[in-house]
Amino acid sequence: TERTLVLVKPDGVERQLTGAILARIEAKGYRIVDLKQVDATRELLEQHYEEHVGKPFYEPLVEFMLSGPSVAVVLEGNRVIEGFRSLAGTTDPTTAAPGTIRGDFGRDWGEKVQKNLVHGSDSVASAEREIGIWFA
Ligand code: GTP
Ligand code: MG
Repeated sequence: TERTLVLVKPDGVERQLTGAILARIEAKGYRIVDLKQVDATRELLEQHYEEHVGKPFYEPLVEFMLSGPSVAVVLEGNRVIEGFRSLAGTTDPTTAAPGTIRGDFGRDWGEKVQKNLVHGSDSVASAEREIGIWFA
């Protein structure tokens, strides 16, 4: 079995989509093993997004993630890392496939940051690292 870190980002919490997103995860069959609402700090986000430091979207992304609480979730299940990323859809919500979280609930709001509702770890190593950051 495998674990992944999922975040319902501030846009998802603000729009009261946490329940709808968690319902899809549970309906798919993954188990929620830990969950909490978090007011992320800049320090936490600098660790979480260290791979993106220096990219043009980095600062807007961090500012967005500081704009309100996120819901941090640990999921467990066979191949849950790729399974959740499949549920989430591709990064850009405008073109993410309908049927996915980003495709069904997201769009371009005309802002610098891509508000795309959720985060999911992209590898076993990232998942271990990110779970350690959000559930220290
Ligand atoms: P996460 O699950 O959030 O990590 O999404 P991802 O793996 O699909 O995207 P990635 O890790 O490449 O980027 C992290 C976040 O930065 C994305 O979820 C977007 O919010 C934002 N982002 C990524 N690429 C771009 C981009 O080209 N432009 C803008 N404005 N934002 C981006
Ligand atoms: Mg990523």
